[in-house]
Amino acid sequence: MSQAQAAKLEQYEITDAVSSFLASPRKMLVGDGWVDAKSGRTLDVLDPATNRLITSVPAADSADVDDAVRAAEQAFVSPDWGGLSPAERESLLLKVADVIETRADDFSQIITLECGKPLAESDEEIADALSTWRYCAAWATRIEGSSVNPINPIIPEKSAFGYTRKEPIGVVGAIIPWNFPLINAVDRVAPALTAGCTVVLKPAEQTPLTALLLGEAALEAGLPAGVLNVLTGFGPEAGSPLAAHPGIGKVAFTGSTSVGKLIGKAAMENITDVNLELGGKSPMIVLEDGVDDDMLPWLAAGLFYNSGQVCTAGSRLYAHKKVFDKVVAGVADIAGSLKLGHGLEAETEMGPLVSPEQQQRVLGYIDSGVEAGAETVTGGKQWGTEGCFVEPTIFTNVHDRMKVVKEEIFGPVMVAIPFADEAEVLEKANNTSYGLTASIWSNDLSKVNRLIPRLKAGLVWVNAHNLLDLALPFGGVKQSGIGRENGLDGVEEYLETKTVIMYS
Ligand code: NAI
Ligand code: MG
Repeated sequence: MSQAQAAKLEQYEITDAVSSFLASPRKMLVGDGWVDAKSGRTLDVLDPATNRLITSVPAADSADVDDAVRAAEQAFVSPDWGGLSPAERESLLLKVADVIETRADDFSQIITLECGKPLAESDEEIADALSTWRYCAAWATRIEGSSVNPINPIIPEKSAFGYTRKEPIGVVGAIIPWNFPLINAVDRVAPALTAGCTVVLKPAEQTPLTALLLGEAALEAGLPAGVLNVLTGFGPEAGSPLAAHPGIGKVAFTGSTSVGKLIGKAAMENITDVNLELGGKSPMIVLEDGVDDDMLPWLAAGLFYNSGQVCTAGSRLYAHKKVFDKVVAGVADIAGSLKLGHGLEAETEMGPLVSPEQQQRVLGYIDSGVEAGAETVTGGKQWGTEGCFVEPTIFTNVHDRMKVVKEEIFGPVMVAIPFADEAEVLEKANNTSYGLTASIWSNDLSKVNRLIPRLKAGLVWVNAHNLLDLALPFGGVKQSGIGRENGLDGVEEYLETKTVIMYS
């Protein structure tokens, strides 16, 4: 930790565990050991609210990937993991959740320190991670194949019988982004372990500490060596060889569509299965009747939650022309009054973006909107004198060819667009290469039910946005991804069907 950062942190009540966690450079988890990168290289972890150094972690490359995949392959077939009964696996996984819960304050502070979000949002992430972990674990004892009578038995004097077994797909390579450092990890690790797989987890270079803490919690709970490995490092050096490794049974990737395409190509070289949870440019569609005042905070949170760094973010607000001015003014009021600050300050409602690069990227989008003639209703600038803050920003007077309307910004920038009728809003809402989520705000069920099947999205909310439920499948269509997370669908992503045809 830098001296300046240490002085800054003295203002807050950092837990002893977090202080000692940050006191020296971290190591990564391969098998049962905490190790440096074989190359000896490291990468710095910064607090995005101050841009000061927190600590450093190993920068893994392909040699470390080989070691981690080998450890995961050995654990996969070991008696103390591969040999566990489903009930034993479930109870072991529940112990991991208990350790995460015991260490909730440590997780919360680490998430806020490396990612920037307010502590309250980190706490929400932990609650979400715990219920996901426990919900998944329960599926371990409920995995079922089916029995099918062969329709064309070839040996008439024998009886024929067929059934399917659901078997774990093998070692999972999980590569995740920085916007929800714990949930992104748990959404991949929990269903994979539930299915009986082992995991090599590569967290984002901006937020490796939460994943290392998860590795600690897993070992503390008694998860056998090699079941969960955590490799810290950069995408091209550590993520890329993981996706291309022939020992991997499935690559589970969450992140940008451009990297998702690279991962898909690398995996396909070995015919490795993929689950891709990618970008979005989700529409929030407010119909003529859809503006209750108590809905306005939910519409604002639809985009500004987590500083807009959410794959499902409602970045395009479409409001019927009769209510457009009222909706935009209401959402702008809320956005303009959000209290920005360090995530560890109790009053903070919106933290910084995750990194200087992300801040510059988002400010670049804002400039491009202004240059193209968009009108700024609120925000539009960097905020404060240090750290990666950007004001909550809303643009009107935009058209479909502008970058701010077409591309995923992944920051607190909303575009608001009026529409006259259902046909117009459908055409506009679907006019994107993405198809992750959409929301419709109305109590007119006949209109709502006409729109739902026509929206090209993997998930549609009615009178809500961003509220995922871990029992319900989540994932995208078009360039927003392949496969689903959550629900039984999410666990089945990590199972392979083996068919048995038996004559006796
Ligand atoms: P990214 O997609 O580059 O990073 C996500 C993960 O992929 C990280 O762990 C990274 O190390 C890894 N990675 C990067 N390049 C790789 C490669 N060649 N092979 C294997 N792994 C690789 O996202 P980044 O650069 O952090 O953010 C850029 C933009 O991506 C954001 O502005 C946002 O638009 C989008 N994004 C979308 C997310 C979503 O959930 N929809 C999450 C994060 C970013
Ligand atoms: Mg990148």
